[in-house]
Amino acid sequence: MKKKVALIFGITGQDGSYLTEFLLNKNYFVFGVKRRTSLIHTTRIDHIYEDRHLKPNLILKYGDVTDFSNVFHIISETNPDEIYNLAAQSNVGVSFELPEYTAQTDSIGTLRILEAIRILDKKKKKIKFYQASTSEIFGNSPDKPYSEKSRFAPASPYGTAKLYSYWITKNYREAYSIFAANGILFNHESPRRGENFISRKTIIGIINMLHGKQKCLYLGNLYARRDWGHAKEFVEAQWKILQQKKPDDFVIATGKNYSVKDLVNLVLKKVGIRYIWKKDKKGFEYAVSLSDKGHIKKSQVIIKQDKTYFRPNEVHDLKGNYSKAKRILKWKPKVSFDQLITEMIKKETENHKKLS
Ligand code: NAP
Ligand code: GDD
Repeated sequence: MKKKVALIFGITGQDGSYLTEFLLNKNYFVFGVKRRTSLIHTTRIDHIYEDRHLKPNLILKYGDVTDFSNVFHIISETNPDEIYNLAAQSNVGVSFELPEYTAQTDSIGTLRILEAIRILDKKKKKIKFYQASTSEIFGNSPDKPYSEKSRFAPASPYGTAKLYSYWITKNYREAYSIFAANGILFNHESPRRGENFISRKTIIGIINMLHGKQKCLYLGNLYARRDWGHAKEFVEAQWKILQQKKPDDFVIATGKNYSVKDLVNLVLKKVGIRYIWKKDKKGFEYAVSLSDKGHIKKSQVIIKQDKTYFRPNEVHDLKGNYSKAKRILKWKPKVSFDQLITEMIKKETENHKKLS
């Protein structure tokens, strides 16, 4: 049987790497789009990279979703059955500093891919398109827990840009009968998570402190709540969304949420640090160690809130209702929050040993 061809924009990212592994295991031929950068940054996919001079099932192409001619040519050359648009400036905090770039990538980038599909695939209707939508489109909407029927109220340039992409994906589906679908994914983490997202930042910071490489971990809002799942099982849902008879939009979540402080407390507990939370005169919280542990000394301030890490606007409480995905996709999360954090700590500890 002819191999299915998948094209992944954002292959070098967390989800891109897990999705590539998943699709190669399903016997797909995978093309991935990587950006030109001054240093090669394919570390998440180096273990699956295949030399294009041999008989590869994975080929990387240079590209950028801010460049229409590039997007158009890549889709035309690779002739994919499925396109996964995971490319994004994905950091919500950074989107307040780079609002226009975030819109170019996270909104118009999606439009560029859809336009290329519309022009190239007019008659065949072969290409299926997956858009990496996000729980950030719900923002601070009152309709909790969030499902496909909840109202949208994004609270950042990132969430707003992603809401455009959500709608344009729906519009192209309805206007041109393109198989275009949104996966509205809630937070998902893994040992491959970018270093400046809260889960990985906290774990790296605490392990660094234990080894004397960092004195204190500075954080922002400790009271936001997130619905955290494992990236590896969330990419399976992305694929399942494209295997349906009809294109549709799905919430993918765990249905449970925890605060940032719960996350920090869990990591500290798991690595065996004893500590107490206190508040300074300005109301900023900090944690002080109660005994020596590794390079951490008794009475050391190990965690401190710092206003640099507070956002101009915050999404306070995200929790998803994934019952539609469970019913139609037969998908449900299996990895618990505790198991996810345990796996991330274990991997970070190994990374640390390799480096030292
Ligand atoms: P990630 O690790 O930040 O990966 C993003 C990918 O997009 C990277 O490969 C990045 O390339 C690429 N990219 C960025 N700007 C680009 C551009 N202009 N042109 C082409 N590629 C570009 O994000 P992730 O966690 O894997 O998430 C994947 C997608 O799902 C993103 O769209 C994100 O917004 C969305 N999402 C994520 C979550 C989550 O919790 N992880 C939840 C909901 C939705 P570089 O490696 O060169 O930076
Ligand atoms: N990154 C970060 N750094 N977040 C912090 C910090 C800090 O020092 N201190 C507190 N936080 C809080 C943020 O204010 C936010 O409420 C929460 O921790 C989670 O932040 P992130 O891990 O950066 O993720 P996010 O929820 O903003 O966005 C992620 O999930 C979205 C889906 O809900 C990203 O992966 C997005 O791309 C994704 O769409």
